[in-house]
Amino acid sequence: MARVFSGIQPSGVPTLGNYLGAIRNWVPMQNGDESLFCVVDQHAITVFQNPGELASATREMAASLIACGLDPDRCVLFVQSHVPAHVRLGWIFNCIARLGWLNRMTQFKDKAGKDREAASTGLYVYPNLMAADILAYHATSVPVGDDQRQHLELANDIAQKFNHDYGVEFFPRIEPMILGVAARVMSLRDGSKKMSKSDPSDQSRINLTDDADTIALKIRRAKTDAEPIPDHMAGLEARPEARNLVGILAAISGTLPENILREQGGKGFGAFKEVLVEALVDHLSPIAAEMKRLLNDPGAVDAALHKGAARAAAIADPIVAEAERLVGFLPPR
Ligand code: TYM
Repeated sequence: MARVFSGIQPSGVPTLGNYLGAIRNWVPMQNGDESLFCVVDQHAITVFQNPGELASATREMAASLIACGLDPDRCVLFVQSHVPAHVRLGWIFNCIARLGWLNRMTQFKDKAGKDREAASTGLYVYPNLMAADILAYHATSVPVGDDQRQHLELANDIAQKFNHDYGVEFFPRIEPMILGVAARVMSLRDGSKKMSKSDPSDQSRINLTDDADTIALKIRRAKTDAEPIPDHMAGLEARPEARNLVGILAAISGTLPENILREQGGKGFGAFKEVLVEALVDHLSPIAAEMKRLLNDPGAVDAALHKGAARAAAIADPIVAEAERLVGFLPPR
């Protein structure tokens, strides 16, 4: 089976979007050293993070991944900054990727906003480090949400150019795995924006740590339109908020939106939202409880991450050392 790599930024608590679009798909892919999951703290600081909060957010992110079902004994779970191979290869990739390629990245444009001159240079070259995260392990299967598609295409361009420039077949081709009906969960306040940990409005997202009352309140307040739930897919057309809520219920219930419409079609949003709240609370409460339990013993989470970093480094170090040799660096010993 192909080696799996994926990452998540500790720039906040994981959202329902992270969970349905990515984390939930990681759980069945656990396969010892062939599956690596990384809390990418170096990516997080491309936008300023409060230093007092970053370390605890990193630990909390790891705890929530474990609470969602990742088992540090059945996969490699670790923190990006603990494995220097990522930045070593990231630097080489900064020298492979072209400015023109990075200029096309839509996520940079979104995140930098209007004042692009004020964005950090790290935010700009971020996709190069992301390519290094994956290729330092020669990983080929990358389960992510839809918003990462463009970054993975860039990673393939970088791998190909490296191979071409140095006349080798060293880096493999990456296959994006964009899975399920919830590869793009949208904001609860605006069906045209993705649900995001960094959205200023907490009402726009469900956090995996939200309690039952908070989930109920956010769903009841979620933006909708005046029509009832349709009974067929065409009825969701041009109704982004309705489509989003139906998609969330389908994903959380492990079924297809078609089946949800068959059951719920004709209901008003009031009644539909109560069904959605119940499904979300049933599914997410045990995760939040487990996360709380894990964080009662932060030392145990840190120990698991340190073990993970050693296993990750054992895989990445020889691959990155070989990349450095191919580039022509004098071996350190
Ligand atoms: P991040 O931290 O923004 O998100 C982590 C994962 O969650 C997915 N996701 C979503 N899926 C569906 N709907 C949403 N609203 C939603 N929001 C987020 C993301 O697609 C992602 O899979 N660049 C990455 C982290 C990263 C990475 C990597 C991923 C760094 N290196 C190497 C894969 C391989 C990011 O910022 O994810």
